[in-house]
Amino acid sequence: MSSKLIIALDFSSADQALAFVSQLSPHDCKLKVGFELFVSAGSEMVSKLTEKGFDIFLDLKFHDIPNTVASVCKAAAQLNVWMMNVHASGGAEMMRAAYHALHENENVNTPKLIAVSVLTSMSDEQLQQTGVNALAKEQVVHLAGMVQQAGLDGLVCSAQEAVILRQKLGKDFLLVTPGIRPAGSAKGDQSRVMTPTDAISAGVDYLVVGRPITQAKNPLAVIQKINAEVHDAL
Ligand code: C5P
Repeated sequence: MSSKLIIALDFSSADQALAFVSQLSPHDCKLKVGFELFVSAGSEMVSKLTEKGFDIFLDLKFHDIPNTVASVCKAAAQLNVWMMNVHASGGAEMMRAAYHALHENENVNTPKLIAVSVLTSMSDEQLQQTGVNALAKEQVVHLAGMVQQAGLDGLVCSAQEAVILRQKLGKDFLLVTPGIRPAGSAKGDQSRVMTPTDAISAGVDYLVVGRPITQAKNPLAVIQKINAEVHDAL
């Protein structure tokens, strides 16, 4: 079974990231490259990781006019990433443009395209300050429907929202969830956290875990523990 664990490679240099990755196997995890590593180490970093056989989730949350997002998605697909994302709040037209850009020349390596709904750091009050007259969880469900209608493969969401989203969106829509903490590990700045077991039981497809692994004394032991939990919960 392909791994459901995506490790967030939040490192500030190529050397740090590659030293960490040297102990990992593509059978045990996928890797997420976000802003910090991409800006510090460039797109060559992504190529180095795919050459080692890892599935890469390029987490750059594109949000711009449809033509620009379509072009950057096409460029990102050239890096042979497994998955990439856009912001759902960029609108249906932007998401459709991104999807069509990736599927123009259909081939087996077309990356999965998912959307970020409401950032988990946003409170209801902060969301309303932006002019959205809904609770964050209502807005997540609303955006999720738009994402699915635009043809995308899935959504980044908090595990707390997974049960309702799974019911509304069916079994084939991917739910990708950060804020996962193995029992007993520190929450850091994440406020709404869930264990791997609970997240899988709630219908989550992929777990994004950063610091509980990257800052662990024994990262491999944490990876094995999470993979065993996921295996038991499926
Ligand atoms: O270290 P930690 O497990 O908290 O890392 C979670 C990762 O998921 C980070 O790379 C963070 O940027 C990302 N993320 C998140 N919440 C979101 C979207 C992405 O924590 N809503």
